[in-house]
Amino acid sequence: MSEKKLVFSGVQPTGNLHLGNYLGALKNFVSLQKNMDCIYCVVDLHAITTFQNPKELKNNILETTASFLATGLDPNKSIIFNQSSVSAHSELAWIFNCVSRVGWLNRMTQFKDKAGSDKEKASVGLYIYPNLMAADILLYKATHVPVGADQKQHLELSRDIAQKFNNDFNCKGFFPLPEPLILKNISRVMSLRDGTKKMSKSEESDYSRINLKDSADEIVKKIKKAKSDSESIPDNLKSLEKKPEALNLLNIYSEVSKINLEKALKEMAGKEYSFIKSKLADLLVSEISPVGKEINKLMNDKAYLLQILKKGTEKASIKAEENLKNVREKVGLI
Ligand code: TYM
Repeated sequence: MSEKKLVFSGVQPTGNLHLGNYLGALKNFVSLQKNMDCIYCVVDLHAITTFQNPKELKNNILETTASFLATGLDPNKSIIFNQSSVSAHSELAWIFNCVSRVGWLNRMTQFKDKAGSDKEKASVGLYIYPNLMAADILLYKATHVPVGADQKQHLELSRDIAQKFNNDFNCKGFFPLPEPLILKNISRVMSLRDGTKKMSKSEESDYSRINLKDSADEIVKKIKKAKSDSESIPDNLKSLEKKPEALNLLNIYSEVSKINLEKALKEMAGKEYSFIKSKLADLLVSEISPVGKEINKLMNDKAYLLQILKKGTEKASIKAEENLKNVREKVGLI
């Protein structure tokens, strides 16, 4: 079966987009828009699965939109919109709530991580979050989904939902089985304070991450303070893999200097950590600072950002309504 390729991905507007979002997802979004039809969504309904201050949420929806634009997404090439403005996402999510199985959701490790030790107190929305994510993707019959490694399990669930829907309603091939596009080298950027944890917005210490809006001084300070050790940088991959913080710095360095890890390791082997830190800080300042400045500039023109979202919503709605109509028909809704 030959199906038209379509890219869909989403980012939660929960503030402080960081280097992990940038290297693991946003940069890939930008390169995919060159050759493919792409839809990029600010997933505000996902954000409210944990409580968001309404004023901050509004601001964060615009700031995430600004971050999309600042990293190079072009609203004339890609559809950019916010999830809650196309109500078909919620409607398809409900239908998927009835297709997806409790046993499948019980296996989701991200729910376990986010709900923490007291699951009884987690919102129901947080539990069924992956069903909404499947609805986001399948509402457009997207075939490719660029994400970081942390979203792999959710993508597998989307494929299971697509397959079960196609079986249950006897419509083989109706939903494509979406493929994750996970970058090989930099699928998981780790915390600068603990190389075994992923870099995340919710980590308490701001020193654990480089935010896209950090000033040059902050970037330099954070890289300088990044956890390392008193030994020199190993000269082989096997030893490097035993040092998660060093591996993380090398991985980031290889990504931003556009060389592979082996080459980066050759360049850095036997050197003090201060050497890689100083080079990495320079590279990150020249790559991230202009993005941060552009985000701030765009945030001074909220009317423009709202207009981008409105146009994107119009385009997304046409596709969404058409597909939802067909889904309703398959399910037997009048
Ligand atoms: P979110 O908002 O947590 O993250 C946005 C994107 O950034 C990636 N990412 C990372 N990549 C590498 N290293 C890291 N430390 C790191 N941290 C975050 C994420 O993998 C993601 O690609 N559930 C999704 C949002 C979503 C979605 C969708 C994605 C909703 N619907 C449909 C794809 C398709 C999420 O919470 O991403």
